[in-house]
Amino acid sequence: MTQLLTSTNKVSYRALTPELELMGQVNVTTETEFDNAKFTCRDVRVHYGSLEALHGIDMNIQDNGVTALIGPSGCGKSSFLRVFNRMNDTITGARVSGEVLMDGQDIYSNDIDPVLLRARVGMVFQKPNPFPKSIYDNVAYGPRIHGLAETRVELDGIVETSLRKGGLWEEVKDRLDDPGTGLSGGQQQRLVIARAIAVDPEVILMDEPASALDPIATAKLEVLIDELKENYCIVIVTHSMAQAARISQKTAFFHMGDLVEYGETAKIFSNPEDKRTQDYITGRTG
Ligand SMILES: Nc1ncnc2c1ncn2[C@@H]1O[C@H](COP(=O)(O)OP(=O)(O)OP(=O)(O)O)[C@@H](O)[C@H]1O
Ligand SMILES: [Mg+2]
Repeated sequence: MTQLLTSTNKVSYRALTPELELMGQVNVTTETEFDNAKFTCRDVRVHYGSLEALHGIDMNIQDNGVTALIGPSGCGKSSFLRVFNRMNDTITGARVSGEVLMDGQDIYSNDIDPVLLRARVGMVFQKPNPFPKSIYDNVAYGPRIHGLAETRVELDGIVETSLRKGGLWEEVKDRLDDPGTGLSGGQQQRLVIARAIAVDPEVILMDEPASALDPIATAKLEVLIDELKENYCIVIVTHSMAQAARISQKTAFFHMGDLVEYGETAKIFSNPEDKRTQDYITGRTG
């Protein structure tokens, strides 16, 4: 079935009342269609105690591509990102409601083990957080826990492949026993990406992964993200409009807990529909 991606719930009008649209009574303008939705979110709300941080988000996320979440500080980007691997569950007082399907399966159902889910849906944070272990052991950590390798040779293979995919192998292959924390910030960020990749995830969530990096390390990370999108669903929060424009195919603009506008990145940045989006991307608010 064709999945629909839209900035608002206009999509349901299109699905349910095409005749109204033909009659010109419903204006559907910002819709994008795609077949490969990885996630389907319906009426997703995140509460912290009595605060509702997200007010009912309806949104699909494409597979094999980069979706950027943008918007002013406090609008709910990180809260939304954490919905996809149930990281909000780990925050005292946080509560998620609504429906989140991954490949059609409800990830909040009782059958889902959040620990296993987080192996399928990896996460990379603003500040790289290598474990206080060697480079090798950082990457081998997940595969060991999840029993992904039977022999040392197999584990070596996973570590090398993951570091290659993380764009770091050439820089560290002769110092795998050195501490991960001894790498540069940009290298650490690629190390934690390699660590996420090592458990063979389907999705990689990134929350401002480049905000602590210099321009050269950022450029390397962006090249890496561009390569990874061939095989992974990537959702990235960024405060850099230029970065969102460079690396994402879809962009979602959030404002005060609402999804204001969602669609093709090129469209959002060249011809946004909503004045709030326009003000934000032109630097008038934020
Ligand atoms: N652990 C928490 N406890 C209580 N309130 C929280 C918590 N985390 C976020 N919030 C609140 O939820 C709202 C959304 O926060 P969130 O961190 O998702 O925004 P954001 O868009 O990621 O912002 P930023 O760009 O500054 O990272 C804010 O009002 C914030 O204060
Ligand atoms: Mg945030």
